[in-house]
Amino acid sequence: MQGSIAYCALHFALCALRFALPGLSHFLREPYVAGIRESITRNPDNVMLTGESLYTPYTQFIRTRRTRMTEGLRSMVRETVLTTKDFIYPLFVVPGKGVRNAVKSMPGVFQLSVDETVKECRQVSKLGIPAVILFGIPEHKDEVGSEAWDPHGVVQEAIRKIKKAVPDLVVITDVCMCEYTSHGHCGIVRGEEIVNDATLELLAREALSHAEAGADMVAPSDMMDGRVAVIRDTLDDNGFQNLPIMSYAAKFASGYYGPFRDAAESAPAFGDRRSHQMDPANADEAVREVAIDIEEGADIVMVKPAGPYLDIIRRVKDEFGMPTAAYQVSGEFAMIKAAAENGWIDHDRVMMESLLSIKRAGADMILTYFAREAALLLKEA
Ligand code: PBG
Ligand code: ZN
Repeated sequence: MQGSIAYCALHFALCALRFALPGLSHFLREPYVAGIRESITRNPDNVMLTGESLYTPYTQFIRTRRTRMTEGLRSMVRETVLTTKDFIYPLFVVPGKGVRNAVKSMPGVFQLSVDETVKECRQVSKLGIPAVILFGIPEHKDEVGSEAWDPHGVVQEAIRKIKKAVPDLVVITDVCMCEYTSHGHCGIVRGEEIVNDATLELLAREALSHAEAGADMVAPSDMMDGRVAVIRDTLDDNGFQNLPIMSYAAKFASGYYGPFRDAAESAPAFGDRRSHQMDPANADEAVREVAIDIEEGADIVMVKPAGPYLDIIRRVKDEFGMPTAAYQVSGEFAMIKAAAENGWIDHDRVMMESLLSIKRAGADMILTYFAREAALLLKEA
């Protein structure tokens, strides 16, 4: 009964509004429209061509353009500022000496041997970039990816040499099996299945070996359930209580990883990664994934890819207030490079806009292959 009275009242109010509103907006708009009409009659040809309307508005409206009129004003109202300190630069380490293999699908990106990696790190650090993340391509791949935790594997060697040469550079390591396994999957494979629990031990060994080599942070990217908990336990049990974990918490099964799989030589020999990486359709689930990783001990949470998932970055930042990283992946990078090489877009402008947008969405740090170029540009500015 009460409900229906309330409904009637609401209905009445809405009907009244429906009749009142058009009149009201007509009343507000009329002087403006009349002004334009008059100016067009008085100046039939020139209005559009010269932009010099004779009409002086006597209707009040809001001028948002005022604070856009000069660079000085624009810089005062600017909400998001991108800096070199936001960047983490990914590097691909290969066996050998003096090796610099260009990655075809990623212009300006190279597979580097340890010595070349160290050189690169010196330059990166000089540019003011605070961190690198290392991916390793092993000498030999096998079923279980055993080079991943080899104390003399490429990543472990690179960590030691980088920390010696550039001690202040933060060295993060990617922790996953797919670069090390012969089948290219992120874990142990039985039949067609990527087995979760058996993989956890391998990931823990890999993370521990990176820690022992001197890494400043480990970043599990495998998307097995429970891996942050197991890695946290293993690190703690071995005296690495203070070593932070950056988890690839919301990592989507994305077509944008294509070029990376050339760079890391990690394309799966059969099947795909949809049984562990997330469905691109799911945002609520991404929030749950992040909550679980925080619960398990993640210190920094990552969303990946970045550009196509800005909504996820924003939700994760708002929901948890955690240090939040976003990975602008190989495909995002390659698309900008390709379009720019064709002359279809302005390379530097789109590079900076893509990075700024990721930061505006809520990322505190951005893993990006543009780190060097963007840092150079920011230095010149
Ligand atoms: C490994 C890993 C991948 C990326 C980062 N770590 C590839 C994948 O999951 O297939 C992608 C990075 C990029 O595309 O730039 N698990
Ligand atoms: Zn993987």
